[in-house]
Amino acid sequence: MKKFAYLLCILVAINNSPLLANSLKQDPATVLITGSNRGIGLALAEHYAKEGWKVIATCRKPNQAVKLKTIADKHPLVMIEEIDVTNIETINKVANKYQDSTIDVLINNAGISGGFTNQVFGNFDYSIFERVIDVNTFGPARMAEAFLDHVAASRQKKIINITSTQGSIARTRGGQYFYKASKAALNMITKNLSQDLKSRKIIVGLISPGWVITDIVEGFKDPRMLKPEESAYLVDKVIDSYTPDQSGYFFDETGTVVPW
Ligand SMILES: NC(=O)c1ccc[n+]([C@@H]2O[C@H](COP(=O)([O-])OP(=O)(O)OC[C@H]3O[C@@H](n4cnc5c(N)ncnc54)[C@H](OP(=O)(O)O)[C@@H]3O)[C@@H](O)[C@H]2O)c1
Repeated sequence: MKKFAYLLCILVAINNSPLLANSLKQDPATVLITGSNRGIGLALAEHYAKEGWKVIATCRKPNQAVKLKTIADKHPLVMIEEIDVTNIETINKVANKYQDSTIDVLINNAGISGGFTNQVFGNFDYSIFERVIDVNTFGPARMAEAFLDHVAASRQKKIINITSTQGSIARTRGGQYFYKASKAALNMITKNLSQDLKSRKIIVGLISPGWVITDIVEGFKDPRMLKPEESAYLVDKVIDSYTPDQSGYFFDETGTVVPW
């Protein structure tokens, strides 16, 4: 009996040792975010940093990413890297730099609208159309190809593409052709990829982040709109609750399935 009590004391002492607790702690999970210098991407970077994640916060111009730098100064696990999702060299450079690291969640957030006046039927500016597809559709595909092995080697194995309910063919009511087509195509790529990556147990998901006050809405205001940090909180919740069975689902920010 005495022996048992003695053993119990030792176990309690070991359990309370900070050294042991640290060695038993898992490494923090890693998230890579594109377009993290402003808007929803910036809010996601800050959100995950506060949650203790390792954040690979990517943007086109790290030197000008003042707000992101402020976050990185406060959170040592935030690394800022240069990625332009239309430039494969910048993507591959970061993929190579982190080739020995795992990425639990890849968030393809970067996106552009193409403006409101360039995509009016009868007056299409096709060079803008190409640019919108390049960023919104090709960009996430390039990222998924480059970072697939990093995600596959991780614990959570998630590729999340930030889409829009505007990409829902079922719900469309006209206008914004380039943006909607780019997101609808992204939705198909995502659903397709979710099928191809099932055997590797990789979750490929779509999330529309809500109607959010950022530069993309060009000053439009409505009391129902979310702040970027509110959207980031909700998006994280949806990402966190994604199950392998739901791979390929199209969710909104509340976790409700959006019709294709
Ligand atoms: N806000 C909404 O209501 C709403 C609704 C539905 C979906 N979304 C989606 O949410 C995502 C984020 O949008 P947001 O609202 O945060 O817009 P935002 O404030 O305009 O931010 C867009 C981000 O994308 C980046 N970006 C643009 N082109 C890029 C490129 N070639 N390579 C890398 N980054 C690039 C921008 O970086 P630069 O500063 O370098 O341009 C910026 O960081 C987008 O995919 C958007 O379609 C937004």
